[in-house]
Amino acid sequence: MAAFTELVFSGVQPTGNLHLGNYLGAVKRFVEMQDRDAQCLYCVVDLHAITVWQDPEALRGQIREVTAAFLAAGIDPKRSIVFNQSQVPQHAELAWVFNCVARLGWLNRMTQFKEKAGKDRENASIGLYDYPVLMAADILAYRATHVPVGEDQKQHLELTRDIAQKFNTDFSGSITAHGHGDAFFPITEPLIGGPAARVMSLRDGTKKMSKSDPSDNARINLTDDADAIAQKIRRAKTDPEPLPSEVAGLKERPEADNLVGIYAALAGITREDVLRDFGGAQFSTFKPALADLAVTSLAPIAGEMRRLTADPGHIDAVLADGGARAETIAAQTLDAVKDIVGFVRRGPSLQAVR
Ligand code: TYM
Repeated sequence: MAAFTELVFSGVQPTGNLHLGNYLGAVKRFVEMQDRDAQCLYCVVDLHAITVWQDPEALRGQIREVTAAFLAAGIDPKRSIVFNQSQVPQHAELAWVFNCVARLGWLNRMTQFKEKAGKDRENASIGLYDYPVLMAADILAYRATHVPVGEDQKQHLELTRDIAQKFNTDFSGSITAHGHGDAFFPITEPLIGGPAARVMSLRDGTKKMSKSDPSDNARINLTDDADAIAQKIRRAKTDPEPLPSEVAGLKERPEADNLVGIYAALAGITREDVLRDFGGAQFSTFKPALADLAVTSLAPIAGEMRRLTADPGHIDAVLADGGARAETIAAQTLDAVKDIVGFVRRGPSLQAVR
């Protein structure tokens, strides 16, 4: 592997339709990361997907569809490593070691588990509870320095940092003895930001846009055609006031704030820039402009996804190549982890990763 100053990792679950929130909060930013001095790894996290039951045939299709979305959005599988998690056994292996580092009290604080498990907590899978530990393993199997995600992943990334810190502290003597200096795992930097770190429902500006919203009108799916995109924006909930000229005027106006944020993220500008052009405008003027921008940005991605998913052999080849390249890196991390923890392992020690 060439020497890069940064290692970027992120993942997306293959659990149904990707939507505009996934695109603006994550995938579009994954594409932009490729221009940094960084090795980027983008993972379809199928092990995470099965923390809630998935129909096996549907799951296989969804893994290919998320991969197609990555490629259609502009992730280059030669420059970046594109793969699905289950092809790299080190994720699950490292998760076990981290299960023995993470504390019960830390996991008990995870709000996403509470939301997803709902009232029937006793009936949730152990995998769902352990989900954030596997996520830490995803990131740290590559000793990733940067992780671009939407705002809903903030708490999980804090846990990743806590696990890295505790591992480094618990094993500090062994880490030094094996030639890794003071710390083996980096304290990974979350990259959360931009105007679309939290895209909200088109039907209710106080709720996150999500795959599980029963109303399809609440989200724009990456597979929606031009008519569906335009119609959903036309029907999006708003308030009766014209757009303000300053960002401060969007406070207490969640729907207006959301649509302005979406426009800004699609255009690659700030909310301030949008209001400079549209301050004082009615939604009857702003919505058609937003619909045009969304259609020109998203419809080509949907078209390319359709073309790519028609050739599953090509997608599987991309995943196999990415999986092999990812495993080369992760295997070195796991060799070092086994030495540090005190396991006896087959074969000579590999050199430290970087
Ligand atoms: P997932 O599959 O739910 O979502 C994928 C990415 O999309 C972002 N996102 C949003 N961003 C803005 N507005 C929204 N409404 C919105 N909804 C979703 C998410 O923040 C995420 O970045 N746990 C992760 C997957 C994962 C992962 C990892 C991520 C597993 N291992 C390691 C980073 C690093 C998840 O469920 O994402």
